[in-house]
Amino acid sequence: MHTAEIGIIGGSGLYSMPGLTGIEEVAIETPFGAPSDPLVLGTLEGRKVAFLARHGKGHRILPSELNFKANIYALKSLGVTSILSVSAVGSLKEEHKPTDFVIPDQFIDRTFARSATFFGDGIVGHVGFGDPVCPLVVDTFVKACEEVGVVGKKGGTYICMEGPQFSTRAESNLYRSWGADVIGMTNLQEAKLAREAEISYATLAMVTDYDCWREGHDDVTVDQVIAVMHQNSENAQKVVKAAIRLLPTDLSASPAQTAAKFAIMTDRSVIP
Ligand code: ADE
Repeated sequence: MHTAEIGIIGGSGLYSMPGLTGIEEVAIETPFGAPSDPLVLGTLEGRKVAFLARHGKGHRILPSELNFKANIYALKSLGVTSILSVSAVGSLKEEHKPTDFVIPDQFIDRTFARSATFFGDGIVGHVGFGDPVCPLVVDTFVKACEEVGVVGKKGGTYICMEGPQFSTRAESNLYRSWGADVIGMTNLQEAKLAREAEISYATLAMVTDYDCWREGHDDVTVDQVIAVMHQNSENAQKVVKAAIRLLPTDLSASPAQTAAKFAIMTDRSVIP
């Protein structure tokens, strides 16, 4: 039976995890369909990990097309108790510069075409989401950035937009007026589903651009995102590797680990 302790979801700029030993690729089917790609299982820093390329090999799945439920279900079915997620983001503040890492602790949902719950179909449940990421994983990412010697800012608000088009300038300025820090297209649904699945989750957000709000500067382009991503992917890999070593084995203090315990409202006698 295949198992893993730590899941890594690699986004734009992190399509593989060098250093994994004893690699095995496993195609997993879930009740929600197939995940973005076969999972790559192996050992890193003495721990069993499962790597998933969020957008699939060759980056072929749009943010709105991602099967978030299959991705999280597949990791859960391996026994994963924590997920280290990596994503490219745009900066909404001058101080977050391209190549910096931000480890967000809040989200704002600007998506409108995604399903992000395992509940439904006769079972009603509501998990707490006031603190949407796991503080233990956040602290681990922060320490890992320190160890690697890169800028890793603790906390901040991640706007999750639908895409695939980048924001209008009016939207970008609106998000700035809300005090948001970074913008991306993928992480909130993962955080919601990981919480329902009682998996401790946080995101290492890699700043690639200043979106389109910064006067006197060019608006974000894919070329720019890719250039910074390539420049920075080695750092992201180093941070993830250090985070795997530093992540506590005991996650019982994480709010995620018991999130679904009191979440279900449906009378159990009517659940088939
Ligand atoms: N990913 C990287 N840069 C982005 C931006 N400016 N907006 C949305 N997603 C992004």
